[in-house]
Amino acid sequence: MAMLVVAPSLAGLDVKVTTGVVKDICFKTQDPSFCLGVLNKIPQVSSVDLPGLANITINLATSNATKTLQRIKSLIPKTSERQLKEAYTSCSEHYDDAIGDLDDAKKNLTEGDSNGVNLSVSAAMDEASDCDDEINDLPADASIIKANQDLNKICDIILAISKSNY
Ligand SMILES: *[C@@H]1O[C@H](CO)[C@@H](O)[C@H](O)[C@H]1NC(C)=O
Ligand SMILES: *[C@@H]1O[C@H](CO)[C@@H](O)[C@H](O)[C@H]1NC(C)=O
Ligand SMILES: *[C@@H]1O[C@H](CO)[C@@H](O)[C@H](O)[C@H]1NC(C)=O
Ligand SMILES: *[C@@H]1O[C@H](CO)[C@@H](O)[C@H](O)[C@H]1NC(C)=O
Repeated sequence: MAMLVVAPSLAGLDVKVTTGVVKDICFKTQDPSFCLGVLNKIPQVSSVDLPGLANITINLATSNATKTLQRIKSLIPKTSERQLKEAYTSCSEHYDDAIGDLDDAKKNLTEGDSNGVNLSVSAAMDEASDCDDEINDLPADASIIKANQDLNKICDIILAISKSNY
């Protein structure tokens, strides 16, 4: 008889986020000290469960990406160099898409669909690397280069929270 293995979904877990859990999550990321900085700054970190932490971190990613989008939009009219102006314009589209992907991730989380969270968050990460590819080799504003890395790292934290299922 075949066994049906059902993967646990984020919503099914009720693991409280202790200091140990935060460390566990952060040491699964590419930049643990960045991750510890972000998660330890969340005031309610010790009173939420894993889906709650995923939710808060998706919100952080959304507000981060929204601020970056505003910054990119403000740079476009100030940029006279054609190639860079075009790159910023593409980046603004990538950030728009990233915000949409993070919105999808929230819906996936509400549905307890951790694979969906994974896919949606990975898509947001791809948008940040696409923007990075656009401005690579151009004299882009350092804040946008950093913003791409920040969004990538925050999304990486969300993926690590999803992986804490197992
Ligand atoms: C996520 O946070 C929002 C408030 O920002 C709340 O309404 C919602 O219930 C939370 N969802 C989960 C899965 O914790
Ligand atoms: C994005 O989040 C990182 C980590 O918390 C922070 O250092 C950075 O200033 C944020 N960027 C924006 C544009 O909000
Ligand atoms: C995640 O949410 C989005 C938006 O609701 C949906 O289109 C997508 O099918 C969901 N699941 C996956 C696996 O991406
Ligand atoms: C997330 O998706 C990636 C690529 O599709 C996959 O390699 C990884 O195992 C997935 N992780 C989880 C926790 O589902």
